[in-house]
Amino acid sequence: MAPGRDRRLASDVATVATLLTGGERLLEVGPGAGLLLQELLAAHPGLVATAVDRSPLAVRRTRGRNAAAVAAGRLTVHEAALADLTAAVGPDARFDVVVLVDVNVLWTGPATAEVATLVRHLAPGAVVVAVQHPPDPARRADIAARVAASLTGAGLSVRARGPDEDPDAGAVVVARRPTT
Ligand SMILES: C[S@@+](CC[C@H](N)C(=O)[O-])C[C@H]1O[C@@H](n2cnc3c(N)ncnc32)[C@H](O)[C@@H]1O
Repeated sequence: MAPGRDRRLASDVATVATLLTGGERLLEVGPGAGLLLQELLAAHPGLVATAVDRSPLAVRRTRGRNAAAVAAGRLTVHEAALADLTAAVGPDARFDVVVLVDVNVLWTGPATAEVATLVRHLAPGAVVVAVQHPPDPARRADIAARVAASLTGAGLSVRARGPDEDPDAGAVVVARRPTT
């Protein structure tokens, strides 16, 4: 992997790890090649994960890279767009941590339906962490503000909003669903 991508992945792993205490039900939207899941599942043995990606290639790559976790029942991968999450995971599925890395649906335009669908599947107190690594780091603050607006518009409270000084950290937004 190129050094820049390596550093970004390490930064993403560290960002998500701060939200894990063990045994969470994690959902990743848009896992792409499944690299972040590979790292998280290896480092957190109690973690159980679900992934949805609208790309058949991404689904194949995520399943292939994480074949042992799939076989062990720790990872389920669905081919679905975020808007179709309920049909993919079932109406009763709830997640404690939801991760989106470089999935631009939360900031490129109104994503009201997608965010409402996501919120429906959050357990009380669940967190959503969205990270964007724009090619131009100067865009991070604007992107973080747009992502934060999408999430607060759906009733979540934003707990943290990047960017920090580390350019590999991207635009990070962490938002929480109320506990009641
Ligand atoms: C730029 S890639 C990022 C992949 C990975 N998260 C990473 O950081 O390397 C975006 C991924 O999100 C998926 N994606 C984009 N919009 C989506 C949506 N609305 N629902 C589901 N998957 C989506 C794409 O198919 C792709 O696999």
